[in-house]
Amino acid sequence: MSQSSENKTSRSRLLRNWISLVGLVLATASFFAFVLLFAVDLLSHHGNPYMGILAYVVAPSFLAAGLVLTFTGAWLKLRQEHRAQPGALAGMLTIDLLRARDRRILIVFLMASVGFLFLTALGSYQTYHYTETVQFCGQACHVPMDPEFVTSQHSPHARVECVACHVGPGAVAYFRTKINGVRQLYHTLVGDFDRPIRLTAAKQRPAQETCEQCHWPQKYTGPMDHTLRHFLADEKNTPFSVRLLLNVGGGDPASGPVGGIHWHMNLGNKIEYISPDETRAKIPWIRFTNEKGVATEYRAPDFKDDPAKYAIHTMDCMDCHNRPSHRFRTPNDAVDLALANGQIDSKIPWVKAKVVEALARPYSTKPEALQKIDASLRAAYPDRADLGPLISQAQAIYNDNFFPEMKADWRVHPDNLSHKETNGCFRCHDGQHKAADGKTTVKASDCKACHLILAQGNDEEILKLNAKGLEFVHIDSEYSDFSCSECHTGASPK
Ligand code: HEC
Ligand code: HEC
Ligand code: HEC
Ligand code: HEC
Ligand code: HEC
Ligand code: HEC
Repeated sequence: MSQSSENKTSRSRLLRNWISLVGLVLATASFFAFVLLFAVDLLSHHGNPYMGILAYVVAPSFLAAGLVLTFTGAWLKLRQEHRAQPGALAGMLTIDLLRARDRRILIVFLMASVGFLFLTALGSYQTYHYTETVQFCGQACHVPMDPEFVTSQHSPHARVECVACHVGPGAVAYFRTKINGVRQLYHTLVGDFDRPIRLTAAKQRPAQETCEQCHWPQKYTGPMDHTLRHFLADEKNTPFSVRLLLNVGGGDPASGPVGGIHWHMNLGNKIEYISPDETRAKIPWIRFTNEKGVATEYRAPDFKDDPAKYAIHTMDCMDCHNRPSHRFRTPNDAVDLALANGQIDSKIPWVKAKVVEALARPYSTKPEALQKIDASLRAAYPDRADLGPLISQAQAIYNDNFFPEMKADWRVHPDNLSHKETNGCFRCHDGQHKAADGKTTVKASDCKACHLILAQGNDEEILKLNAKGLEFVHIDSEYSDFSCSECHTGASPK
């Protein structure tokens, strides 16, 4: 009897120190917090980004910290006693299975361990899962990721998780990203991050690890029929549309004829290039290696340097589709879309020009922008009482495409999939890049290599299809070279 009571004190006594007590309180509290948050997270239908962080990151961290403290305290106490009375410990810590009390303790201990391991497994699975969600990446750190989150929600990839494109497959990529994430969390908390944020070439994952997990590069796409609807910046907002038959083609002989725009798929051939600037807006040197291994180098006329001094990139999907998920529409495009869809009334005189002008002005915060857009449209139409829908539509366009706090809009994140408002395809296809024998790549003037213009003009003209393709009739037909983006800046052609 006396021995058992001595034993009782000897075991729990180890926990009677401040460090262990604090640890126990912390562990118990965070355990209950975890159970509660987990239940709320399971039952609620609308995920809240902070709930996930609390349940699967914060609570388990505190639980682990609590347990570490508890055991550290006990261990320190044990060491202290061992120093004071060497040898006395041995008897105290032996477990005697013949003693009913020891058996009970052992069973409780084993059950608690299994329960804890189970919860840890569940917790880590949920934590892993949670840190892969769009919510975690896009909403939890609010300000810095807001532009990419908002734009991705209006993209064809709205249902694709951020990590599918930004974290490669496998455990190494996962851990590398999470370790990087801790650093980013710190920078977010102290507000020390780039505005705008850019993916440097080194951080961008190759298409084979991202896009090609879902898209099959061998797919033969063939011709695609696109109608691009525009409105002129005149009093009547005159419609002007272009209907293109894009020669998308394909790059794999087993799936369809090889040729066209998707010929650059790196299947038989390989295209490499260098770019001295981060945004890859200028491409002064290209090397094309065909399926027989014969390489041809094309240079821009002013490029005399040695290309080996630069990082050589292999062209992939993202050199054309650089905004698959985060498309910051130009004011021009966004207003054209709203006019075409009837969200903005095209009967309001000069409305195209006025809204584009209001959107494109520089603002420093979103609230300021929304308020000034309101004021400038009211000033533009002092006699109209029905401006409510127009103003809210203009503000909605601003909300979805402009992020002044992060300095993010179409000016810093241009779309390369065309050549009207950025150089896009014409970075390589400007007709200026020449091989040693004077040969060029597909020239900008060779419009039909990339698309046929099936119809163009106002709402009536656009219905008259011409299967052979038309010459482009430009509004003022005065452009001398083919650098469309010199006039078409996205905010106005003037
Ligand atoms: C379909 C693939 C895809 C998905 C899904 C995706 N991204 Fe991206 N993201 C890209 C590509 C491609 C770029 C690089 C654009 C370039 O060339 O500069 C990019 C760029 C970025 C950038 C750098 C800034 C910029 O706009 O260039 C950030 C930040 C970013 N993404 C965050 C996110 C977040 C947060 C999510 C989820 C809400 C997400 N991404 C989902 C493909 C994707
Ligand atoms: C997790 C799977 C997944 C990944 C990864 C992915 N996509 Fe997609 N992508 C889709 C799906 C699904 C659609 C079809 C969306 C629809 O039609 O509604 C799509 C559609 C597209 C389209 C057609 C867009 C349109 O306007 O209809 C393009 C272009 C595209 N993806 C390019 C890319 C590129 C480039 C990448 C890599 C940066 C990529 N995708 C990564 C699943 C994915
Ligand atoms: C010398 C300047 C200049 C060049 C170069 C130029 N454009 Fe234009 N473009 C204009 C002007 C001015 C308008 C009339 C804009 C308006 O009233 O909104 C216009 C209107 C258009 C429109 C219809 C309205 C709109 O805003 O979308 C399209 C489409 C267009 N241009 C395509 C092109 C293409 C493609 C190229 C290159 C092949 C090109 N332009 C080169 C000045 C130019
Ligand atoms: C040379 C530029 C270029 C490259 C490289 C490129 N694409 Fe495209 N792709 C285009 C153009 C242009 C279109 C048609 C216009 C559009 O979709 O807006 C297109 C269309 C598509 C479509 C829509 C077609 C459909 O069937 O609905 C998908 C999906 C696509 N590309 C995926 C990819 C993937 C994946 C890669 C990389 C393996 C890739 N593209 C590489 C230029 C390119
Ligand atoms: C990094 C440079 C680069 C960019 C960007 C680029 N291309 Fe190309 N493209 C090439 C090279 C190199 C060739 C092969 C030239 C040759 O055949 O001599 C080529 C060939 C082509 C061909 C002819 C394919 C065939 O059937 O032989 C088409 C069509 C084409 N490109 C369309 C586009 C379009 C559309 C875009 C933009 C969406 C684009 N390219 C962007 C480098 C580029
Ligand atoms: C290297 C390939 C290539 C060449 C060469 C080319 N284009 Fe294009 N063009 C494209 C692509 C890609 C698009 C984007 C189509 C889309 O967004 O659906 C485009 C879009 C356009 C548009 C619609 C732009 C808009 O936003 O409304 C016009 C107009 C146009 N091209 C005219 C021309 C004319 C005129 C020429 C010859 C002087 C020409 N293009 C040469 C690839 C090319």
